[in-house]
Amino acid sequence: MTAIGYPLIIQGGMGIAVSNWRLARAVSTAGELGVVSGTALDTVLIRRLQDGDVGGAVRRALEHLPLPDVAAELLRKYFRPEGRGPDEPYRLLPMYRRAVGSFREQITIAANFVEVFLAKEGHGGRVGINLLTKVQMPNLASLYGAMLARVDVVLMGAGIPREIPGALDALSRHEEATLRLDVEDQPAGEPVTLRFAPTEHHAGSEPLHRPDFYAIVSAHSLATTLARKANGRVDGFVVEGATAGGHNAPPRGALRLNDRGEPIYGERDLADLDAIRELGVPFWLAGGFGSPAALADARRLGAAGIQVGTAFAYADESGFAPGIKRGVLRDLAAGRVGIFTDPRASPTGFPFKIVEAPSLGSHAAERSRRCDLGYLRSAARRPDGRLVYRCAAAPESEFLAAGGELEETVGRKCLCNGLFSAVGMGQALEDGGTEPALVTSGDGIREIAAVARGRESYAARDVLEYLLAGSGDPVRSVEPAGAA
Ligand SMILES: Cc1cc2nc3c(=O)[nH]c(=O)nc-3n(C[C@H](O)[C@H](O)[C@H](O)COP(=O)(O)O)c2cc1C
Repeated sequence: MTAIGYPLIIQGGMGIAVSNWRLARAVSTAGELGVVSGTALDTVLIRRLQDGDVGGAVRRALEHLPLPDVAAELLRKYFRPEGRGPDEPYRLLPMYRRAVGSFREQITIAANFVEVFLAKEGHGGRVGINLLTKVQMPNLASLYGAMLARVDVVLMGAGIPREIPGALDALSRHEEATLRLDVEDQPAGEPVTLRFAPTEHHAGSEPLHRPDFYAIVSAHSLATTLARKANGRVDGFVVEGATAGGHNAPPRGALRLNDRGEPIYGERDLADLDAIRELGVPFWLAGGFGSPAALADARRLGAAGIQVGTAFAYADESGFAPGIKRGVLRDLAAGRVGIFTDPRASPTGFPFKIVEAPSLGSHAAERSRRCDLGYLRSAARRPDGRLVYRCAAAPESEFLAAGGELEETVGRKCLCNGLFSAVGMGQALEDGGTEPALVTSGDGIREIAAVARGRESYAARDVLEYLLAGSGDPVRSVEPAGAA
């Protein structure tokens, strides 16, 4: 932590459920900023309940949800004390649309509450939540749920989160919040709005804590726009380069590919840190900054610290399935791990990094085209006036019927189902198998060998001790809130 109370290290938000409450809690109790991923938490919640909620953490958190009827209904509908039967598929939630029913929205509130509650339980450290701006439809309910659990920081990238600061202000007063929904082919001048009214769900009158808002940006121009034109306070920036795990911003200008078919980035894609410094807002550098030398460099460049993802993704507390972590760490020790930045895989159209390792099999494996989770669906207006939702990784016929173009579907992978498999919650398929896992990490994955030091496992605290060595700021143990 810096002298004025900012974290030196932000453990990056990693979806889906890679940065879960256990990982964020481990980092927060050590005095840095632990961040839970808020992406698709509603499905994460009901899958944990269907798997028997081993250890009882979800049920413990639900007892504190200030919407007791919702907690009871969730348990009635989804909790399976014995877990699922062999090959039994998970029950699914209705996919998000512009407007959804009250209980559907409440599941999202509850899921975000649970994750933040558990990450904050029993200590006084700060906890953040990461949401993707592009996954627009659940975002307001997600933010409100996280705020009911008194989340300290909201971090959002993957889009332009210009309306989020104002939404946080409104939600902290339990007032209706709105966001403009992106709708392809929507007539200009007829904006479509997402609305969320807290009072339809909760009769709270005490204002909620307004979390700090950190925008994740890849370009200084976006930071400048947000600092000047966001509809409320932006408290910090995470400046993320194209080497970071997960989705990356596309390169500027026309897309050029290297001989492996990966996007080529150049000088123009590097953020101008002078311009960011001039904004006078704290910032953290992300993407290949997971080493003590990089932390020192970042500090020299005027950053408050660094945001690190990949090194934490393989820690014991992360949500990646234990077999995946062990396999990749073994492959790493044998020098057999690579990263492929796939320009086509993600239906969002953003480049997405995929780990290549013998233990993971071929990432090019045949995957089913389907869309039953729907988090990456986008909205479009049809000529007959209907609002439709579509994902380019869905079966081609479905995508075309919703007005999509065939060429858009080429090379797309169902990230929703692949990412759920990577955290051990993959859907059972009709042929008795499970959806193949999709594992993402940053270009700097080989550098986590310095943390692993040949071991097949390590803890989040080991990552912090490695990163903070020589910083003059040791890993701490945060006491329970209010403890003497
Ligand atoms: C497994 C994994 C999943 C990620 N998912 C997200 C995400 O859902 N949202 C996000 O903003 N960043 C995501 N990231 C990026 C991290 O938050 C962080 O910025 C990045 O990992 C930093 O670079 P590094 O991987 O070189 O440490 C992800 C990274 C990893 C490794």
